Amino acid sequence: MKQRILFVCLGNICRSPAAEAMLRKLVEREGIADRVVIDSAGTYGGHSGERSDPRMIRAAAARGIEMTHRARQVREEDFDRFDRIIAMDDNNYEALFRLAPNRAAGQKIYRFREFLRHHPDWSYIPDPYYEGHEGFELVLDLLEDGCSTIVEQL
Ligand code: 4NP
Repeated sequence: MKQRILFVCLGNICRSPAAEAMLRKLVEREGIADRVVIDSAGTYGGHSGERSDPRMIRAAAARGIEMTHRARQVREEDFDRFDRIIAMDDNNYEALFRLAPNRAAGQKIYRFREFLRHHPDWSYIPDPYYEGHEGFELVLDLLEDGCSTIVEQL
């Protein structure tokens, strides 16, 4: 059985599509891409249909990570379609609980910080949207840390 993982942030144009692309790169490198289905979505639908933020695409490309995702809003049926729904920060986490149709669905929701091992100072993935280049680099550092943990669990 493939594990189905959905990453969720606010706009689905920076953090969660980068997490999706990061995890995809890591499982391809390990030769275990067939063990997972990976997607991402946003709690806010205002960017639906758009490609990811060009600043995020550039920062990811510099690390050999290709981002091709088109933004979409998370929806109730995602709780049927995925095994783990991983929120980038506490606002996303709480928004997912409001959307979860029942207790079993709520048990699929995680915080990305649960997978961080080398960044004890971070309890969430900070929104880089209003930040400079360093904000995007920090996001990628955190995502690489957590996604490596997810790969080991597959
Ligand atoms: P993301 O970043 O949640 O990491 O995709 C953001 C993208 C857009 C907005 C906020 C955060 N926005 O307010 O439009």
